[in-house]
Amino acid sequence: RRIVVLVSGSGTNLQALIDACADPAYGVQIAAVGADREDIEGLARAERAGIPTFVKKVGQFTSREHWDRALADTVGGFEPDLVVLAGFMKLVGAEFLGRFEGRVVNTHPALSPSFPGTRGPADALEYGVKVTGATLFVVDAGVDTGPIVAQTVVPVEDDDTVETLHERIKVAERRMLVDAVGRLAREGYVVDGRRVRIG
Ligand code: GRF
Repeated sequence: RRIVVLVSGSGTNLQALIDACADPAYGVQIAAVGADREDIEGLARAERAGIPTFVKKVGQFTSREHWDRALADTVGGFEPDLVVLAGFMKLVGAEFLGRFEGRVVNTHPALSPSFPGTRGPADALEYGVKVTGATLFVVDAGVDTGPIVAQTVVPVEDDDTVETLHERIKVAERRMLVDAVGRLAREGYVVDGRRVRIG
């Protein structure tokens, strides 16, 4: 099974996948790692692991649609069974989603449907919830709205800052991602309405 991983930042989720893929029993190969910006630790992690990388910046294209198509073309060239958005901070568009119908998953640092968007940990802290976590979902046209594959829960501590809370979430998020991506890729899955059935 082949996956392509898209990243925008430090790539610790990507690193967890790289480490898991080193074990043949995991049954998954990272065909390529793509990013929407240069000079990020996520790309360096891929390069150190000998994985092909590519960058598609929105600003290199005349429109968001052209960027989306170019991204889909490049990802498609690696013939992935699954596309994993791991801290990828751009919304992929209709063309991209159409090309990889039901085969794009994203990880979000909150318990969906609470706190969608880019401020998941901060919004959870501000709201005052006592537990939060991370969600892996099949990407649809909305923002963090797609059918849920897996969730993991962490406590919110009284003295948390956004950083300490996000760090606790990310530890759990990486385990969830590795476990769920492995199962999705190895066992296959069907999306039935809002239900994702693995195997
Ligand atoms: C993750 O918490 C992801 O869900 C969020 O940004 C973080 C990315 O971390 N959108 P990393 O780049 O994998 O270290």
